[in-house]
Amino acid sequence: MIIICIFTFIIITRETLLKRLSILGSTGSIGVNTLDVVSRFPDRFSIIGLAAGTNLKLLKDQIRAFKPRIVSVLTDTLAMELKRLLPRNCRPEIVYGDEGLSIIASLKEVDMVVSAIVGSAGLNPTFTAVKRGKHIALANKETLVMAGKIIIKEASKQNAKIIPIDSEHSAIFQSLQGHRKKYLKTIILTASGGPFLRYSYKKLASVTPKEALKHPKWKMGKKVTIDSASLMNKGLEVIEAKWLFDITLKKIKVYIHPQSVVHAMVEYIDGSVVAQLSHPDMRGPISYALSYPERMPIELSSLNLLDVGNLSFITPNLKKFPALGLAYRALEDGETMPAVLNAANEVAVGAFLNRKIRFTDIPKIVKKTMDVHNPRKISCLEDVLIANEWARQKAEEIVSHSN
Ligand SMILES: NC(=O)c1ccc[n+]([C@@H]2O[C@H](COP(=O)([O-])OP(=O)(O)OC[C@H]3O[C@@H](n4cnc5c(N)ncnc54)[C@H](OP(=O)(O)O)[C@@H]3O)[C@@H](O)[C@H]2O)c1
Repeated sequence: MIIICIFTFIIITRETLLKRLSILGSTGSIGVNTLDVVSRFPDRFSIIGLAAGTNLKLLKDQIRAFKPRIVSVLTDTLAMELKRLLPRNCRPEIVYGDEGLSIIASLKEVDMVVSAIVGSAGLNPTFTAVKRGKHIALANKETLVMAGKIIIKEASKQNAKIIPIDSEHSAIFQSLQGHRKKYLKTIILTASGGPFLRYSYKKLASVTPKEALKHPKWKMGKKVTIDSASLMNKGLEVIEAKWLFDITLKKIKVYIHPQSVVHAMVEYIDGSVVAQLSHPDMRGPISYALSYPERMPIELSSLNLLDVGNLSFITPNLKKFPALGLAYRALEDGETMPAVLNAANEVAVGAFLNRKIRFTDIPKIVKKTMDVHNPRKISCLEDVLIANEWARQKAEEIVSHSN
């Protein structure tokens, strides 16, 4: 009898200690890194739901390794194909499309949802997860760029914590621990500057997608890599920081820091600056987001500043990289303008990757789209989705006229 009780106690304790996760975007760069972190701590996490887009080969391997109860793919055809690929004894429930994403985002037994779909497709499922009171490990910055106001409001209503995965925001989040918000003076986000930091504007006009996809420090998905090269990524991160840390635009600064070792800094009113430093490896911030407020012995390579030698910081050149300035403008205009900036940028990045426009056309298309938008008040998600759709169509038009 005593043995049975101890055994039951061990099982119950293990179950309560396990954090149950769903990952939206499991086959992407963040999704794969998240599963790498999870695989190192099988006693701490269990994977309940995975959502991918089209990469069935990788999703199949993930299903085999992590045994989720339910998975989602982009379309019904892909769902049928996945079913065929999986052996009967290792076949989770398979759902698909927007409904599938929504199911994965709101599973009853899930404690935390990792939001790692790229672009505006991440907004709806992340909002669904927040509405269900799930804690969010947030990589999909576009969610807060588009709809920060309503996401943060809903998260507070539902007691859902939003913990950043983006390395800069994780660095700020870490640098704020143990300090009172009222003492915060400025936030400084760093940017590597991307592959074209030292290029002239003329040279920028002729860079190819292949060159733009070679990030000097980080290995990431295509869209965020192009955004990093244009500095739009930093612009989106400024908006993300505004919402995550409830701070005015004037208090957010950006430094170019080519070594990508200092991920962000927080300056306090007494002049003290607290920073977070580490090797550029997304598994660090992912591990922190999953384990917060604990830390896990993830054993990534130690940072040796003697090896790094110099840490340098320079002011971003907004003439060469106007995307960052556009993001500040979108935030100043407020309401639907950041959603418009985001949508136009997604269209422009897609057009650049498909060789329809030049690299330097990306911010031009975003600006032209913003110039003809009158920001509308955001009262609900629908307002954001309407602005998103409008901006996509407008940006597509501008792209087609620019050829
Ligand atoms: N990568 C980084 O180091 C990094 C760092 C900070 C922040 N972030 C942010 O994290 C997010 C993800 O970035 P990433 O680099 O991981 O992107 P990624 O490598 O391109 O992966 C995107 C993921 O989203 C899935 N997906 C795309 N469209 C979808 C749709 N309509 N429905 C369902 N799933 C869809 C993809 O599925 P399939 O591949 O199966 O089609 C893939 O799993 C972005 O918002 C990015 O800004 C990334």
